[in-house]
Amino acid sequence: ADGPLDIVPVAGRIGAEIRGVALGGDLDDATIAAIRAALVRHKVIFFRQQHHLDDAGQEAFAERFGKPVAHPTVPVVPGSKYLLELDSKEGRAASSWHTDVTFVPAYPESSILRAIVIPQAGGDTLWANTAAAYEELPEPLRQLANSLWAVHSNLYDYASVVTNANEEAVKRYREVFASTVYETEHPLVHVHPESGERSLILGHFFKQFVGLSQADSQRLFATFQDAVTRPENTVRWRWQPGDVAIWDNRATQHRAIADFGTQHRQLRRATIAGTVPVSIDG
Ligand code: SIN
Repeated sequence: ADGPLDIVPVAGRIGAEIRGVALGGDLDDATIAAIRAALVRHKVIFFRQQHHLDDAGQEAFAERFGKPVAHPTVPVVPGSKYLLELDSKEGRAASSWHTDVTFVPAYPESSILRAIVIPQAGGDTLWANTAAAYEELPEPLRQLANSLWAVHSNLYDYASVVTNANEEAVKRYREVFASTVYETEHPLVHVHPESGERSLILGHFFKQFVGLSQADSQRLFATFQDAVTRPENTVRWRWQPGDVAIWDNRATQHRAIADFGTQHRQLRRATIAGTVPVSIDG
């Protein structure tokens, strides 16, 4: 089903490296379709040695891959159309588990992250498989999950655990990030529009379950979120400069690991527009 691509799984339940592809705006339709199929199947895919990509090349590939969109509150990288800067100097290493931008109704389908400066050691990224998490819930919890809806909000800043950012930059970033407060409701369980798999929508922007108290919401959040982030459901990527990771934002959560002290870490992300998630009741 993976067609012509050379695909090597990285972990047991999520993640695969694709070899022998030079990403760019010039890829043919068959290769784009094969990469998209691999993404839905493996949930996060990795490409090494993409040094030829600059900002324009990353954007050109993103335009072939889907419909790129800028972040709703954070200004784009100067000179780019859609790119989000994740630079440790500016306090931007998203080191708490999240699915991108779940605080809007039609949150992104996928993200394309390019490594520019990577610490000598540390600064890996983790991804978790939210469909596997749903699949292995015991039946009573699965039934409970099926009935819940949750409020997601961007009121919680991204830059809570950063190592070498200067305080002013972090403060500025927090102000920008929550400059407009977004809030929306999603079903806890949604049906993937391409694979039909069910998975859990949770992560950093979760605020509260609809109809439950804050205290009950937090307890239940912990139960379901722990199922997502179990090591068995994760993959960890040791970056090299020039690497690109693409994740299916409809079936994963991810987080950076803030263990790199004062070393510099810089990546840029292109984000692909998604659709409003569909609950199991349609
Ligand atoms: C992100 O959350 O999009 C980036 C994660 C990372 O910096 O590793």
